[in-house]
Amino acid sequence: MLIAVDGPAASGKGTIAKALARHYGLPHLDTGLLYRAVAFTVRRLELDPEKEADAVAACDFDELTLADPVLRDDDVGQLASLVSAHPLVRAALLARQRRFAHQPGGAILDGRDIGTVIAPDADAKLFVRATPQVRARRRHDELRRRGSTLSFDRVLADIRARDARDSGRDAAPLVQAADAMPLDTSFLSVEASVAAAITLVEGRRAR
Ligand code: CDP
Repeated sequence: MLIAVDGPAASGKGTIAKALARHYGLPHLDTGLLYRAVAFTVRRLELDPEKEADAVAACDFDELTLADPVLRDDDVGQLASLVSAHPLVRAALLARQRRFAHQPGGAILDGRDIGTVIAPDADAKLFVRATPQVRARRRHDELRRRGSTLSFDRVLADIRARDARDSGRDAAPLVQAADAMPLDTSFLSVEASVAAAITLVEGRRAR
């Protein structure tokens, strides 16, 4: 079974994808980490994130980077949203994601364009959303736990900026696939969100 989980920043898609992976015993790929690794590498090599050729050069990042907690930093997320708008960056990461998606036995991927570009043939697609305030609250709590001192207002502004960039770009913008099942987690606990996701996937499987 191939499951696609898409949605904006801090919507809960990563938590849901990980829980689904555990529930169904499937391998999981957080595709945001790939773009974050490119962003981090651009910064490390002092390249220009606005230049497509520079960002493409960083797609050949060191695999060990993927395990570095620095990738979760807010500024790396902002930079990821800049480099991910370049079509050639998306093209450079495409084959790797498709291979993961189509491995024997199935997989779960979460990101922005899994249901639309990476795996339009997915057996079940979820589009996870929540209000910007709720998402900023979650991200702010998460960053604070990791020692960040960013204010709530700054995190909210960053989330809004990233939403606008991810949805407004020409290359694989963040949009809900026509056959995706919407899931709003604004007023759901983690447990309730995961239970709702499993119910939706089961409903799709039964059809
Ligand atoms: O965890 P969060 O939702 O904040 O971010 P993420 O999923 O790690 O993604 C970081 C950035 O990478 C996003 O803002 C997108 O610009 C980009 N991204 C993308 O373009 N396509 C994907 N499939 C995943 C992430």
